Amino acid sequence: MELPAECDGLFRAPQSLVLEAHVPSLAAYRERYRRSVEEPHEFWDDVAKEFYWRSQHSGPFLKYNFDVTKGKIFIEWMKGATTNICYNLLDRNVNEKKLGDKIAFYWEGNEPGDSMKISYSELLHKVCQFANVLREQGIKKGDRVSIYMPMIIELVVAMLACARIGALHSIVFAGFSADSLCERILDSNCSLLITADAFYRGDKLINLKQIADEALQKCKDKDSPLKNCIVVKHLGREEELVSDGICSKSPPLKRLCQDVQEKETESSKRFHPKTPWNSHVDLWWHELMKNASKECEPEWCDAEDELFILYTSGSTGKPKGVVHTVGGYMIFTAATFKYVFDHHPEDIYWCTADIGWITGHSYLTYGPLANGATSVLFEGLPIYPDVSRMWSIIDKYQVTKFYTAPTAIRLLMKYGDEPVKKYSRKSLKVLGTVGEPINPEAWLWYYRVVGEERCPIVDTFWQTETGGHVLTPLPAATPMKPGSATFPFFGVVPAILDESGEELEGEAEGYLVFKQPWPGIMRTVYRNHQRFETTYFKKFPGYYVTGDGCKRDKDGYYWITGRIDDMLNVSGHLLSTAEVESALVEHSSISEAAVVSHPHPVKGECLYCFVTLRDGQKFTTALMDELRKQVREKIGPIATPDYIQHAPGLPKTRSGKIMRRVLRKIAKNDRDLGDTSTVADPAVINHLFSNRCETVL
Ligand code: PRX
Repeated sequence: MELPAECDGLFRAPQSLVLEAHVPSLAAYRERYRRSVEEPHEFWDDVAKEFYWRSQHSGPFLKYNFDVTKGKIFIEWMKGATTNICYNLLDRNVNEKKLGDKIAFYWEGNEPGDSMKISYSELLHKVCQFANVLREQGIKKGDRVSIYMPMIIELVVAMLACARIGALHSIVFAGFSADSLCERILDSNCSLLITADAFYRGDKLINLKQIADEALQKCKDKDSPLKNCIVVKHLGREEELVSDGICSKSPPLKRLCQDVQEKETESSKRFHPKTPWNSHVDLWWHELMKNASKECEPEWCDAEDELFILYTSGSTGKPKGVVHTVGGYMIFTAATFKYVFDHHPEDIYWCTADIGWITGHSYLTYGPLANGATSVLFEGLPIYPDVSRMWSIIDKYQVTKFYTAPTAIRLLMKYGDEPVKKYSRKSLKVLGTVGEPINPEAWLWYYRVVGEERCPIVDTFWQTETGGHVLTPLPAATPMKPGSATFPFFGVVPAILDESGEELEGEAEGYLVFKQPWPGIMRTVYRNHQRFETTYFKKFPGYYVTGDGCKRDKDGYYWITGRIDDMLNVSGHLLSTAEVESALVEHSSISEAAVVSHPHPVKGECLYCFVTLRDGQKFTTALMDELRKQVREKIGPIATPDYIQHAPGLPKTRSGKIMRRVLRKIAKNDRDLGDTSTVADPAVINHLFSNRCETVL
């Protein structure tokens, strides 16, 4: 008998989904899970067999040490086996699986109607061409290539071309500032930068090349070996179409043309940004591609060779270069994509994340392509040009599996049901969320309004470091509870520890850790293995420590309670409070700064900053504006403070440590401060309470 979708507070998938599912029941999940943790070798070997290996592994399938007290931390899956991830994503799908004509990506531009598509064989050709370009530029196996691009097909081409020749890509989200880009280029010693001329984010023009140039100048001052910059003509491409008269055929370009005419010089400047050019450094992508061959022998890499570096915030303020390797990452992203989205060949899948973040790496690029999936790649914003944009795209491409962030759901929820209901969304089968805890209210809206109670929601918990989903429902198997990431994925063994490192059984709350490696776990922090060991393995020897708090309920469901270190999650993006503090104190008027996270109805969390001024300085609106600008320039717009409060003094312990716990309470106007006996000067607390910042800047 089919249970109603909602029964005893649990939500279940409809029978139609169960019938076609890879894992159709909780019992089937439990059986596979048992095998995956008891016999990880056999379980993952079965997944690996779906891929092409040039040679098989020589030593043990898995070798690792998770215990710092026993020596160096290391994780090796299938070491000695050789393969190429790009070959597996493209050549294998085109030649062996005969998917050459299948669409790999539907690209949907910022402007509605501005779109294109690319098949698997076209993608393979472009990747081979660009891999040849990279080789011609002297890039070889093990070199690092920095990529700073908008959401365009060339971004996927660039990353896969790196993977094809064994170079490591280090993608920097195109919303980061020149300082952040420079810091990342220097840390990974990149020898090439790939960027684009400019793009629109909503109606805002981003002159990406100009920002990249500023970053390169800063790098040059610091002796970076980076010599060249390859530039995609993205906005300029549209400009050419307009001048060729193609504009009238294309609604979005027409719109831009009208803009130009109506607003004359101001607009035309915006639409025709002149790409700054230095002929000693800069190279146009399209010119390099013109004569490049469409054939390119892949570099055969060891399963444990490094695939890419992706920077994530670290609690010291300096970003960490998370390193993933070829073999383990490939099989883990492939398996999680297949099971978590219950992928089938006819699916149209859409992940709204930017490729600059791990979600875009694992679930817009590697995981879907490894499965021969068709995806939507969207350049724009959820509410541009109107708040129905997402739903219109779902109908346009008949999207079946849709993956987005709680912050986007909360934002769209604000506009009510009507903009959603304007579109049919009948194609949808599975909905997903990622990046931060989803509040039950948003979960229920997503379930009832967007999915019309027929689409299970996979609330996927994972991290840049985990490479792929670690706690997640499987859509047809797991009865869902709104707000819970439910159970571990195959091969993942979670535990909850108390402060003393004791494992807690049954219903419990504490530190979320993992007891053994899965194939997709990071292997090191780039050029800083010690930091890898200290950050993730030192606090509780024998465990990988996530940095998140977690509850397990009486039914064994896991509920993430949020970060328990000095990190905060703004719109699904991790930031460290230290990073923002150091950007603030670089301002000449500021002597000290303390930043805490503060609840925000749409972003989940936001930044509440306390700043102490240098003698003789005044706290003015102009200063607040300068500070916000400073943080944007140092880190990027995502780190813009929502609140800045003047703090003549900060609550500190006698040893001088800032008491952020107390500052968080002040920000929330919560006078239940707990034990304040260690505060050196209690008077500062009262002062801060009476001068709280009530309004968002
Ligand atoms: O705090 C958790 C939160 O995001 C952190 C990881 O951030 P990042 O490395 O940027 O990767 C984000 C995309 C995978 C985690 O430590 N987080 C991520 N997903 C969830 C989540 N918190 C609760 N529920 C989730 N589903």
